[in-house]
Amino acid sequence: MIFRNKVSINFLMAFVLIFLVVSLIASRWSSAPVGNVLALLSVISYVLTLIPGCVKTLVPKIKRHPLVVWLSRHRRYIGVASFCFGAQHGGIIVAQRSLDMLDMHTYRQYLHGSILLGIFALLTMTSNDRCVRWLKKKWKKVQQLTYVIPGILFWHVADNMNTQTWVTPIAGGLICFVIGTLGTRLWIAVIHNQWGHKTKEKPLLEQK
Ligand code: HEM
Repeated sequence: MIFRNKVSINFLMAFVLIFLVVSLIASRWSSAPVGNVLALLSVISYVLTLIPGCVKTLVPKIKRHPLVVWLSRHRRYIGVASFCFGAQHGGIIVAQRSLDMLDMHTYRQYLHGSILLGIFALLTMTSNDRCVRWLKKKWKKVQQLTYVIPGILFWHVADNMNTQTWVTPIAGGLICFVIGTLGTRLWIAVIHNQWGHKTKEKPLLEQK
């Protein structure tokens, strides 16, 4: 079902290729562990999924730019890639540290990582057409969980600051950028509602 069209296969191949190339380069030449580089890829893909919505609100002039249209059209695939990179990062940490996944203490110790992975998994599982039809109005509510991610990511990276790599400032910078952008978007939405601006657009936080 997932591979019903050519685009899905192209995305799957692109994902596997990026994973292999990045793992190879990171394991040979990078001072940061492969797991951390995969975490950065997860953050980058997540940021890409937010760009169309933010552009529509903050810089509507360029909302028809081919890159924005492309990102908007393939948002689901990029989101799934973000989950997969994050899961690989989590899996590598679990394997490296021989964590016991049946021990509740592990989930408490890695609470932010576990919450992140849980949210990404939920968003991925509900990102297909069948779930859109099944969940109806609730689907948008579930997908809005995506706006909780930057806060938890910030907590996750800040809590892991003791072992810094070149990945840390880039990931931290991206997360701060996203928090700032989403904050501005929310602020504009509040101002619009407060001043009763009549707009034909959908509520800001419900835009795709
Ligand atoms: C989608 C889910 C996740 C994302 C986006 C994510 C993202 C990140 C990022 C950006 C870093 C900073 C890397 C650096 O500074 O070099 C990091 C570090 C870390 N993450 Fe995650 N993470 C996720 C899930 C998890 C999970 C499930 C676990 C636990 C099993 C986990 C455990 C860690 C640990 C231990 C570090 C520090 C690594 C080190 O010290 O070398 N993460 N994560």
